[in-house]
Parts: sequence; C-alpha cells; structure tokens
Amino acid sequence: MTIQIIKTTPFDDQKPGTSGLRKSVKQFKKPDYLQTFVQAIFNTLDNIGGSTLILGGDGRYFNREAIQIILRMAAAAGFGRVILGQGGILSTPAASNLIRKYQAAGGIILSASHNAGGPEGDFGVKFNGPNGGPAPESMTEAIFAASKQIQEYHIAPIQPIPVDKLGSYELAGMKIEVIDSVSDYLALMETIFDFNKIAALLQSGKFKMRFDAMHAVTGPYAHRILEQRLGAPVGTVIHGQPLADFGGGHPDPNQAHAKELMNLLYARNSEIDFGAASDGDGDRNMILGKRFFVTPSDSLAVLAANATLVPGYRNGIAGVARSMPTSQAPDRVAAKLGLACYETPTGWKFFGNLLDAGKITLCGEESFGIGSDHVREKDGLWAVLFWLNLLAEKQDSVENIVRSHWAEYGRNYYSRHDYEEIELQDANVLVDALLGQLPSLAGKQFGALTVDKADSFTYTDPVDGSVSKNQGIRILFADGSRIIFRLSGTGTQGATLRVYLEKYEPDASKHDQDVQEALADLLAIAQQVARIEELTGREAADVIT
Ligand code: G6P
Ligand code: ZN
Repeated sequence: MTIQIIKTTPFDDQKPGTSGLRKSVKQFKKPDYLQTFVQAIFNTLDNIGGSTLILGGDGRYFNREAIQIILRMAAAAGFGRVILGQGGILSTPAASNLIRKYQAAGGIILSASHNAGGPEGDFGVKFNGPNGGPAPESMTEAIFAASKQIQEYHIAPIQPIPVDKLGSYELAGMKIEVIDSVSDYLALMETIFDFNKIAALLQSGKFKMRFDAMHAVTGPYAHRILEQRLGAPVGTVIHGQPLADFGGGHPDPNQAHAKELMNLLYARNSEIDFGAASDGDGDRNMILGKRFFVTPSDSLAVLAANATLVPGYRNGIAGVARSMPTSQAPDRVAAKLGLACYETPTGWKFFGNLLDAGKITLCGEESFGIGSDHVREKDGLWAVLFWLNLLAEKQDSVENIVRSHWAEYGRNYYSRHDYEEIELQDANVLVDALLGQLPSLAGKQFGALTVDKADSFTYTDPVDGSVSKNQGIRILFADGSRIIFRLSGTGTQGATLRVYLEKYEPDASKHDQDVQEALADLLAIAQQVARIEELTGREAADVIT
C-alpha cells in the first residue's frame, strides 16, 4: 500500500503546555493541524521501526476522528503495532500502565483533561514516553521545534478501523489490537489494594459511597471496578456514561464543578459516607467525607502517613514529592518518617525522573492529582481505592482520619484562588511588577507576618541536573506561611492567575477555623502586593478551591 506524502506549512502555535498541546476543537479541526503536530511527535522519535504505540483518549468530541487519523499516520511512520483502547477510550493512567506493561515506545493520549469538551470546547494531544510518563521538557521543546519546520506529513490511505470491536486488524502492514480499556488497569489495581477488605466494606450495607465520573472517561472504569468487581450497589457511580461534551459540564473534580456530588455529601441529613470524583481523562481526584472536604495536599499527606496499611506499600515508601504550590503538609509526614521529600515545579512530568530513579514512591499536587510509582501519571481511581483501603482498614470516617492526622502533624490551612480569563497583557504586567518587587520584599512586615524570602522558583532536577526557571513566584514568611503566584499553563483563553495561600497551625485547638477566614490575612497581602484589582479589574477570584 502506498503511503501518501502530504505537503503542509507549519503552524507557529504548537508549543505543548503543562500537559501536552491543548487548543480549542476549532483550532484542532483546521486542515492538517492535528496531522502536523502528530508528525512533529513522530519526527522526534528514534527507532520507531516495528515498535508499539499505545493510543486512546478521554472520549471527548473529535476523539474518534483523531484516532483514525493517528492510526493512519502511525502506520505510515513504521510502527509495528498500535494497542488501542476499545472505542478509542483510555484513561491517562490506564494508558501509562499499558505503555509500561507492553514495553511500548510511547503513547498518544487524546485529552484536554478537565477542560470543557464539545464542538465549542477544547481538545488535546499528549505524548508519553517509554517509561509511561509525560514527555519531559527537553522532548516537548524538540516537538515544538519540529512542528515549526514541518514541510510534509506521511499518512496511509483511508481504511476505517472498527474501533468498537475487540480484535486484531491490519493497516498498511501495521497491526492494530483493539483491547478492553479496563482489564489491564483493573489487574494492576488488584496487585496494589486489598480488594477483599474493600469489597467487604462496600457490601456491608453500613457504608455508602458515590463516585462522580462527571460523564468522562472513568465511567466505564468505575462501573467495572467499584460496582461489578467490588460489589458496591448499582447507583454508586453517578454520571457514569462518557459523553463527547461531558453533558455540558466542566469535568474538573473540585467543589465548584462537582456540584451535585457536593450537594449529596453536604446535605444536612446525608447518608453518604464517602464521595469521590475524577476528571475528563481520569487522572485527577477529589475526596470527600460526609460534609467534609479533603484538600489534595492533605490527601497526599494522609496517604503517605498511612501507606503501609495498603498491601502495595506494606514495606514502606522510598520518599515523597509535591509540586511547589502544593501545601507543605506532606513535608511534615516525610520529616517524621525520616523520608526524603522533593519540591518540584507544577506538572506531572517533573516527578518522572524521581519515580524512575526510585527516589520517591508517592507524589502529588494541589491541582487534585496524586499518584505513585505504579504508573507515571497521577491516577484518580487509584487515589479513590487507596482511600477505600484506608477506610476499610481503619473502620473510621474520612473526617476522623484527617482530624487525627492534623492533631498529630498540625494543620496546613490551604486554598487556591483563581482569577480566570484575564487579559494576557494584564497578567504579564502583574507578573513583571511582582518580579520587580521581589528584591525589596525580604524582611518586610505585613501585620504580624514578616517576609523571610521572596523569589521566583527555580528547580534543578536531582537526577539529570536539568534546570527549570520561572516556575512561580513565592513569598515565604518567617512562620512558614506562603503566598504563591503562578499563571496557569493549561488554559486556552486569556490567562488565569492562580494565587495559592498556606498557613501552618500546630495548635489542635485551632483546627476548626473556616479555611477562608484562617487565610484572610494572607489573601489581603496577596491582593495588595500583586495589585490584583488595580491591574486586572478583578475584586475577587472566580473559582476558589
Ligand atoms: C495538568 C498537569 C498537572 C498540573 C496541572 C496544572 O493537570 O497534568 O500535573 O498540576 O496541569 O495546571 P495549571 O493550569 O495550574 O498549569
Ligand atoms: Zn486530567
């Protein structure tokens, strides 16, 4: 079969962000836009000949069309085999697992994560390398460079593959295996968690949970694992049918977007003990107890402190890592357990080297992502199963587990304030003004708080020595409180300013404050120092998590 060579002109905006190339569907549908980017990925790979590629996505609008195009391009590039999730569906952690399990050269995951979908929404393409993790910066830069030089792409002739039917197919000499999207992932979870104990809890009749799949990719995974395999009552999974537009919602598991779940758990007479949700591509998670929200930072700290209760981590963990804006709650656990603790820039890719080198076992971010060395992505359902395993072991409520954690380690009050879709120019002015002030901030007094240090975060990877600069502006106070400013790297419209606030409270008698009240002083300082209202016209944040 002849491979077609199509002449094309490069696009100048195919620079991958925090997590792959994320653009509006409209942009991705421009003639040759997707093809150019996929060719740029293939052009940066060595030794494609005969190797395996994992392919799947979160099922959002344009997923199916993109899958057919990428299959044809993979055949033209010389891959020997593509392993494809049935219906073009694979959650991000499931794809990461498949890459590792089948020793693939890498994987292409089609997702814009928690961004809205549908014809007016977003689409995205991520490439993960042979370790199963997101391509490191050196590679995303190489892909961007390749995208700017592309003159042609290679594609096999049209031959629609029946992606909904399990089986083996052939396309221009390349094998395509359509596999069940859930089986391998379920098998992996069974090696980590005590499924018997979790099943007993879920079938006890005394414990009720709801898992909100937000009409995104985890629906089939949660139905199979929680209801069918573990025996939770039917109806435990809500919004479990994946929809191309996520039912019109934002598939982002937080208090603002998982409204229905929040209402169920926060009802005055709620009978639900445990609530959880995951995002578009299944790597994020939110954990709720009855009328109780667990911040992702606390969640990571609690899991680290209790890891040995779970079979997969029974022999202890090597170390932990958190992204810089994530609260320092995990650091306290690491210090007490004598573990190494690493602070990385925002973005899962920065955990890859630490995981590969065996320096850490658990890692996580404030942005509702936690994971371990079982794959090289954060993993939503894994976090939910981890919590279920703890609840089954401790026979206690989510709230009690977290409160006793605070009693032992102190509480890190924490919140993130997002100012969304501000003008790019305003955001840049604000950041430049902040950077300009940094040298004069140290030693400055704000009420009871004294600035210890103010800087722009630079990370040196302890494994390969690579340096990443400008990863967020930090104002660190003498009492351990912090204010962090960062521009989001995942949005597709304007700029989003994120302000992260953190205050440490060791005194257990003060662990009952309202989070926003506890952080009010820090918020006022943040607004004043960054002149947020003056420079953006925004009096308050749009989303608070
Ligand atoms: C994606 C990445 C995460 C990262 C997050 C940050 O979800 O996978 O690792 O924490 O983006 O998003 P932001 O919008 O703050 O750049
Ligand atoms: Zn995601």
